[in-house]
Amino acid sequence: MKRKILFIFGTRPEAIKMAPVVKALQRDDEMEPVVCVTAQHREMLDQVLNLFQIVPEYDLNIMKPGQTLSQITAKAIMGLEEVIKEVQPEWVLVHGDTTTTFVGALAAFYQQVKVGHVEAGLRSGNIYSPYPEEMNRILTSRIAHIHFAPTEGNRRNLLQEGIDQNKIFITGNTVIDALLQVVRADYRFEEGILNHIDYTNKKVILLTAHRRENWGRPMENIFEAVREIVCSYPDTELIFPVHLNPKVQDLAHRILGEHERIHLIQPLDYEPFANLMAKAYLILTDSGGIQEEAPALGKPVLVLRTETERPEAVQAGTVKMAGIEKERIIALTKELLQDHAKYKEMANAVNPYGDGKAAQRILHIMRQMK
Ligand code: UD1
Ligand code: UDP
Repeated sequence: MKRKILFIFGTRPEAIKMAPVVKALQRDDEMEPVVCVTAQHREMLDQVLNLFQIVPEYDLNIMKPGQTLSQITAKAIMGLEEVIKEVQPEWVLVHGDTTTTFVGALAAFYQQVKVGHVEAGLRSGNIYSPYPEEMNRILTSRIAHIHFAPTEGNRRNLLQEGIDQNKIFITGNTVIDALLQVVRADYRFEEGILNHIDYTNKKVILLTAHRRENWGRPMENIFEAVREIVCSYPDTELIFPVHLNPKVQDLAHRILGEHERIHLIQPLDYEPFANLMAKAYLILTDSGGIQEEAPALGKPVLVLRTETERPEAVQAGTVKMAGIEKERIIALTKELLQDHAKYKEMANAVNPYGDGKAAQRILHIMRQMK
């Protein structure tokens, strides 16, 4: 009898980072991976499932436009109870810090199924930022039986919360496994506009923004800062694949629409997005995953947040905290556009997040965990 391992995930970043683990378990003779997506995201999740050719056995299809955290929580937990009862897995694996992550762990606990947490131990120290992710991480750590920590710092965070050291394994981050599969020097975009941009003579700024704690005033500050920068520097082009959240879409089009060097486009598939990061001059983002990927590509990142749970990238020098105030975002971006030495200081390929073999390590550990 093969060992049934139930994967539960629901959003774009969870899918990108779980895909290498699903694939590793699919190749193993002992394992029977079963995939359940809550589909907390829909189009943005499907883009990743298609790329990695993962066909979920269960799809709860819970996404509704603009739904609240309580609605996601309630719909996911009801659906997951049924799936876990039917599959009767030996383990449930969840990833990271979304509402699907926490609810997946809770649903497994209710059925007394053991939980493995991939990307465990990240902490910002502020339960309202990122919100609700910091609390989702803490609660998932309380429930999990084993913790796959990307870095030594993540392991230390878990030890400080009293988690048994024998249950924590440092694996690296599976995002590097995924990234290395898709970035190629000779990559050509299918999206017309991306092929027409001159990456050599123009300074291409790539922007992403979606965090809940940035909705409203902080996001307005960010977009106004970016518009001012593009207006002041004729040699810049801004590309912003806008998150499908209506709150982000509305504000982005209101503040950043109608400018010939600002390109507001649909969320990109992971393959073009990763290759766009590799070709960009500079990245401005409030994303978690991008703070892990960009250092591996040697791209400077300004983080549009007041804190980070990814201090390794800051220590390595590729990532700087730009905050959510207009003047500071403008000042730090200008510095990187004008001061070549400052740019060079940040544009070093460093990789504090692993060697691309994290999924293989997770498989190896799961094989011992009978
Ligand atoms: C969620 C996660 C966040 C993660 C982010 C990655 C929670 C609470 N938040 O935030 O941790 O960083 O995903 O992107 O778990 N939408 C679509 N199509 C899609 C995806 C989203 O239309 O494919 C729209 C819908 O209107 C949806 C809204 O975006 O209601 C917000 O989605 P939601 O999952 O609630 O939050 P995110 O901000 O995406
Ligand atoms: N990403 C993508 N297409 C896009 C924007 C981002 O594939 O248009 C990828 C990015 O490379 C990273 C992940 O999505 O791997 C990050 O997702 P997001 O910023 O939505 O979530 P977070 O990492 O902040 O949880």
